Amino acid sequence: MQQAAPGLIPAPQAEDPAPVVTKHEYRDAMARLGAAVNIITTDGPGGRHGFTASAVCSVTDTPPTLLVCLNKGSSASAAFHANGVLCVNTLAPEHEALSKLFGGGTPVAERFGAGEWKPSATGAPILAGAAAAFDCRIVRTVEVGTHDVLFCEVVGLATEGAREGLIYFSRRYHALTGPDES
Ligand SMILES: Cc1cc2nc3c(=O)[nH]c(=O)nc-3n(C[C@H](O)[C@H](O)[C@H](O)COP(=O)(O)O)c2cc1C
Repeated sequence: MQQAAPGLIPAPQAEDPAPVVTKHEYRDAMARLGAAVNIITTDGPGGRHGFTASAVCSVTDTPPTLLVCLNKGSSASAAFHANGVLCVNTLAPEHEALSKLFGGGTPVAERFGAGEWKPSATGAPILAGAAAAFDCRIVRTVEVGTHDVLFCEVVGLATEGAREGLIYFSRRYHALTGPDES
């Protein structure tokens, strides 16, 4: 492709192929990929923050590592990079309203004004009653398009909370019931 003059955005060239898959087509297909809903929190020198995330995935159990995808443009981004720690709070059906509150557009104090929070060993807030909580140190960050992929080593766990799960599928929340323990 032809080089643009410094400071100018290159104009599309005739030979640039149209994207094979558009952003909207991709999003529509991803709506069919159900995923657990989590609130990712942090605290430290960069301040307390948190956001709702479904882009959370296990990487390996040796060492225990998961990844979280964080939009670089979100109000939470700077705090996560400054603190270098986070807690993945995996939600239960009773946390649907909390998920919406942390899903963008509300001030941080209002987000943490709901729910019961206490600091984990890393200092990141843990949600009382979460189905699971993964306390982590961020060990590597990879930038991909609009997002940062945060690779996180798990240094603490809490699994005494709810036995039900909250899934986001087809742009709606769904409750998952756990095994019958009676
Ligand atoms: C169900 C659900 C899943 C989301 N998953 C992600 C995610 O995986 N990564 C992400 O960066 N944002 C995700 N978001 C959006 C963030 O929660 C939102 O952008 C974040 O709270 C920052 O918004 P703010 O800039 O207004 O603070 C999700 C939102 C919802 C409601």
